[in-house]
Amino acid sequence: MSEINDSIYGSQAEILPHVAELFQGKLLELDDLTVKESGCHAFEHLNVRVKSEDSMREKCIRKELEPTAFQALRTLHDSIGLRVVCLFQEDVKKCVEYIRGIDGCQIVEEKDYIKKAKPNGYRSYHMILLFTAPYQDVEGADPGKFYIEVQLRTIAMDAWAALEHEIKYKHNIKDPALVVRELKRCAEELAACDVSMQMLRNLVKGGGH
Ligand code: GTP
Ligand code: MG
Repeated sequence: MSEINDSIYGSQAEILPHVAELFQGKLLELDDLTVKESGCHAFEHLNVRVKSEDSMREKCIRKELEPTAFQALRTLHDSIGLRVVCLFQEDVKKCVEYIRGIDGCQIVEEKDYIKKAKPNGYRSYHMILLFTAPYQDVEGADPGKFYIEVQLRTIAMDAWAALEHEIKYKHNIKDPALVVRELKRCAEELAACDVSMQMLRNLVKGGGH
């Protein structure tokens, strides 16, 4: 009846989960292949989500965009999001390489917050992709093109991001500067652990057999 109850994604609402699943399948294929070849997993775990209606509306409003399917799916690029969490930093790099080579996957943007962390200590590798899939897109093309945001990080980076996310939404912090400083220090300690863990892994692998 009222438009307010309609999905911001319009008729794309039922398509997006299929596209997300199709892309997830590509990463699961990589994992199978990696296990067969090396006995190790390509990543530790994977999260996939279609951004909720409420978050997408909120984001459009925050960015002063009309809350329409076109803005949500063309101006914004994170309606479909995947998070790839790896054990080691080199696994992150291998996953990035693999994603770059996926058929029908055009790289729109890459941000290497691992090489250059955000000022608050956030580390992660971000990719925006335009993925071709056998569904009609918001512009009517079939096969269509769908934006996907992929965040790749180690378990340590993921732990920090989850903790920081939790902590920063507390609004009655007494000493915000201290919190910012300590969060950054924790990020640096975890980054140092990642380097040590990678070194240990290389050591164990190299001397194994
Ligand atoms: P958006 O307007 O959200 O698209 O920001 P952006 O285009 O500048 O994207 P950026 O690549 O910096 O961040 C996109 C996503 O990465 C966010 O929605 C978060 O999920 C994650 N992220 C980025 N920075 C941080 C951070 O400082 N802390 C945590 N916990 N997550 C972050
Ligand atoms: Mg973004």
